[in-house]
Amino acid sequence: MQRIYIHPLPVRIWHWINAIGFVVMILTGIQIRYLGLIDVLSFRTAVTVHNWTGAVLICNYFIWLLFYLFSDKIRVYHPELSPTKHFRDSFRQLQYYGYGIFKGSPNPHQVSAYDKFNPMQSMMYQVVMFLLVPVVFVTGILLWDVQGFPGAVEFFGGVRIVATVHVLIFIFFTFFIFFHVYMGSLGHTPTAHYKAMFVTGYEEVEEPAQGSARSTADASQRPL
Ligand code: HEM
Repeated sequence: MQRIYIHPLPVRIWHWINAIGFVVMILTGIQIRYLGLIDVLSFRTAVTVHNWTGAVLICNYFIWLLFYLFSDKIRVYHPELSPTKHFRDSFRQLQYYGYGIFKGSPNPHQVSAYDKFNPMQSMMYQVVMFLLVPVVFVTGILLWDVQGFPGAVEFFGGVRIVATVHVLIFIFFTFFIFFHVYMGSLGHTPTAHYKAMFVTGYEEVEEPAQGSARSTADASQRPL
């Protein structure tokens, strides 16, 4: 097994805060939106916790964004520009998760420092981090102070539209977390991806052949 440093410290710090924060946002969000379903906190406290956690998550997002914008690791988020290749590789990955993994077949995606996401992760994380997370933040800020941003609320179609978009993305994230946590357990051991993302930053992978693209790219890797 070879160890490859794929989750630098700023990404891990962002992810710890993000994971805890999103769970808090979802639980307090359920209490605020579906009154009576969960009654752990008073309504007022739930709103206060929701608002402050949201503010922390928005600041935290910039740790992730600035790290990638000012590092060459942004390459892991570059989209595959050939739709044919993207869908062929995604289908292969889907076959692996749906069937091959149960027979012990090798993972079709080879992790490397500059190519750490398989095609399914790549597309999912691009949509989540560049679209859904920013939209849930913007709609959240508008709902936090509707009177304060009348022009923006009007621009997006009124408070009902803004609230509906916010709640739909919240429902998406509720399902996303379950799916994401399950997918996170599909490493070469059930805890391998968790250890890499939450503790060490290193992913363990099969030794690549000498002189392969991955062994050359990772040789210059310096942990942050
Ligand atoms: C309960 C909470 C969570 C757990 C246990 C968890 C677990 C993990 C693990 C094990 C990884 C590394 C494996 C992989 O690349 O898929 C990862 C990566 C990632 N997770 Fe999570 N996650 C959680 C919550 C979240 C939430 C709420 C979001 C987004 C809103 C999120 C977004 C991401 C992203 C974008 C990556 C790739 C990060 C990067 O390397 O740039 N995660 N997560």
